Amino acid sequence: FSLNRTVNNFLMTGPKAFLSYVSSVQAGARNGIKECKHQFALERWNCPESTLQLSTHNGLRSATRETSFVHAISAAGVMYTLTKNCSLGDFDNCGCDDSRIGQTGGKGWIWGGCSDNVAFGEKLSRHFVDALEDGHDARAAVNLHNNEAGRLAVKATMRRGCKCHGVSGSCTIQTCWMHLPNFREVGNHLKTKHKHARKLELDKKPARAGNSADGRGAAALAFRGIARTELVYLEDSPDYCAKNQSLGVQGTEGRECLRGGDGKKNASQRESSSCHRLCHRCGLRVERKRAEVVSSCNCKFHWCCTVKCEQCTRVVTKYYCARLGGRKQQNQTRRKQLAPQD
Ligand SMILES: *[C@@H]1O[C@H](CO)[C@@H](O)[C@H](O)[C@H]1NC(C)=O
Ligand SMILES: *[C@@H]1O[C@H](CO)[C@@H](O)[C@H](O)[C@H]1NC(C)=O
Ligand SMILES: *[C@@H]1O[C@H](CO)[C@@H](O)[C@H](O)[C@H]1NC(C)=O
Repeated sequence: FSLNRTVNNFLMTGPKAFLSYVSSVQAGARNGIKECKHQFALERWNCPESTLQLSTHNGLRSATRETSFVHAISAAGVMYTLTKNCSLGDFDNCGCDDSRIGQTGGKGWIWGGCSDNVAFGEKLSRHFVDALEDGHDARAAVNLHNNEAGRLAVKATMRRGCKCHGVSGSCTIQTCWMHLPNFREVGNHLKTKHKHARKLELDKKPARAGNSADGRGAAALAFRGIARTELVYLEDSPDYCAKNQSLGVQGTEGRECLRGGDGKKNASQRESSSCHRLCHRCGLRVERKRAEVVSSCNCKFHWCCTVKCEQCTRVVTKYYCARLGGRKQQNQTRRKQLAPQD
């Protein structure tokens, strides 16, 4: 069983062979975007749909620090999901990566078990996600670089799992395999890369190098010295405070932010500074709203077999960014809403 031959075989049999992957690729891309929304939930730019166009032939051709993250997490999501699918036996032509089985991995352990077949997911991510990039300019080069950085993040966060063998679990020898982490870890990894993203300094002499025909050559030069694992961008981001339709920026007015207290006892630094970041620093004030949350409580088990619960009402305080000078609502806004189920 040769993975390369299998993959090449279906690559050569043309687009029809890929149909079986399309829904998984879509699931993977959705997975990436979901993670993007989680990672940026308390940032001014919060991964809105309006900035999620991967393809460059739609006029939305900015290449900011944020679009670099969108490319990376999408490519990573597709790679991750297809790799997971493969390990779960969802596809006929792919299985565990057994290329090293039986070989010594290190002191006291050998390769065994089912290693996740990242090469499979990687290849399909390249095929599907990179294909969206049909330009030949610096932007295309930047997007492809960031797609690759996303896939490298999946590899970088993989973990080794091991199992002990030997007399009554004495662990004299272990078998080990590589497995995917929780996708959250890929998201965390890429969020750090976003923070440290590098701006590509193009030679400005050929006018508008970002779009010019020889942009790719210029980009190739600019890429020297930037590791493949790092995110890169071309344009500085707007401040994301104010709404700007043409940029697809919604602004932070009306956004919810978090404050310590109120059941959020262990808020991270990033969380507890979110009202400052989203509201105050954007020239907005923080509006406090009380909301009633109805949830199930005091659940009792009745023989046999039902669970009966009471409906409890809890008042929670929420914070939103609001325009300065707007009429202050004295905590009177009462809204009923259902609590999340977990
Ligand atoms: C691959 O996994 C995703 C997410 O778990 C799932 O939605 C999709 O149906 C799977 N694809 C196949 C072919 O089983
Ligand atoms: C939106 O952003 C563009 C590009 O930065 C700028 O030219 C334009 O003036 C902005 N529009 C508004 C309403 O701020
Ligand atoms: C709160 O955070 C601290 C430090 O991050 C951690 O050690 C502690 O276990 C957390 N407490 C709870 C209740 O989560």
